[in-house]
Amino acid sequence: MYRRILAVVENQIPPLAELHALNPAQQPSYPDPSKLVAVAKELRSRPPLVFAGECDALRAQIANVAAGRAFLLQGGDCAETFAAVSAVELRAKLRVLLSMSVVLTYAAQLPVVKVGRIAGQYAKPRSKDTETRDGVTLPAYRGDAVNSLEFTLAARTPDPERLVEAYNRSAATLNLLRAFTKGGFADLRAVHTWNADFVRNSNVEERYEKLSAEIERALAFMVACGVVDENFRTVDFYASHEALLLEYEHSLTRIDSRTGTPYNTSAHMVWIGDRTRQVGGAHVEFMSKLRNPVGVKIGPGISVSDALALLDKLDPSCEAGRVTVISRMGADKVRDLLPPIVQAVEDSGRKVAWVCDPMHGNTFATANGYKTRAFSQVVDEVNGFFDVHDELGTWPGGVHIELTGSDVTECVGGVDELNEADLGSRYESACDPRMNRNQSLELAFTVAERLSEGRSKRVNQFQIFNAEDF
Ligand code: PEP
Ligand code: CO
Repeated sequence: MYRRILAVVENQIPPLAELHALNPAQQPSYPDPSKLVAVAKELRSRPPLVFAGECDALRAQIANVAAGRAFLLQGGDCAETFAAVSAVELRAKLRVLLSMSVVLTYAAQLPVVKVGRIAGQYAKPRSKDTETRDGVTLPAYRGDAVNSLEFTLAARTPDPERLVEAYNRSAATLNLLRAFTKGGFADLRAVHTWNADFVRNSNVEERYEKLSAEIERALAFMVACGVVDENFRTVDFYASHEALLLEYEHSLTRIDSRTGTPYNTSAHMVWIGDRTRQVGGAHVEFMSKLRNPVGVKIGPGISVSDALALLDKLDPSCEAGRVTVISRMGADKVRDLLPPIVQAVEDSGRKVAWVCDPMHGNTFATANGYKTRAFSQVVDEVNGFFDVHDELGTWPGGVHIELTGSDVTECVGGVDELNEADLGSRYESACDPRMNRNQSLELAFTVAERLSEGRSKRVNQFQIFNAEDF
């Protein structure tokens, strides 16, 4: 059975050995590589976590994003942890994402495609292989799929068995997500209650309450008119993560019996990080063969020619919805560095989904030793992204955010005016600083303002088009 699956898969995607021959970046050094081989074999025997048809549905929705007919909201932890796989934590994350999406849908009057950094976001690329504390140097933490955050040699030694645990926790997370999103929790008619216990800051609270009251009135009107729609009751929510660890991603890749093509069944969408996007590299080679929608992060180091070569490799047939380009330039660079890339890609005739990650280009260390981000810079990068697209007449297709559903103190600023001295009170991220629920909702209102400004422009364009038509 295992041999047969492997043979069929490796007919269409390069065998692991070929990918390793390309010297993949950011792979853990396991003390006993034979254990890794056994774990990959074990994972190959496990059932898929998602179905090919679901990946296709997401690709079709991302094609709408690329065409300016929908907006993408992608968000979740920088690094999920095994310990945080609980109903309470997951519900809180989902609630914040659903609330943001309601705010955005209402402003844009367009569908919002909802994708979590969730159910598999367990592996992290790192800028250094080691970490030193008080003269002790240990392997860096690379995510719960690789090692453990605790600063001891045993905890930091990469263990392949963790890949199986990552699979198990992802399966449990997906199961809960499906229950929450299809089982009534996401019913739009309960939009008020999602935040009843958490929006305590008067500024955000007032805006959210006003908006949910409007939505409730509109829904009550439609129900009174006899409209009964399943879309009020359930939500399509997709899972995504950075496809970093080749053994995990390769082992969960299966051939779809319907189309005979390979899908990475560990998530609906997978993305390539800024550190592993080398055009001739193993990650790009592997991802180019998948039928899933794929993302690629681009940071300030990318050249226009590399961006074009990357897209040629990942999407040779120029299929809308296939690639999402997630830029993370930094607030001070986005207005200069993004336009030539967007222009060149659009000139090449491609339609990609343009998404802004306003987090990863704006990380800094505080004097008291915390890695943080300033809410004002996050907002500034989002505004820069919208400015660039407004200027070029292209569609600012979405945002990619690191957030959590609880009241952590990891990013400074925002409606609660967190400062550097506050960071210590609830800094819980295993990796990068995330926005807490109020900051996330506040950001959603900022994006919403840009979207509704854009909506008036789009409506005008539409009216001119109609007038000319007659
Ligand atoms: C991330 O998304 O957590 C990440 C590491 O991003 P990037 O690849 O853009 O640096
Ligand atoms: Co991160």
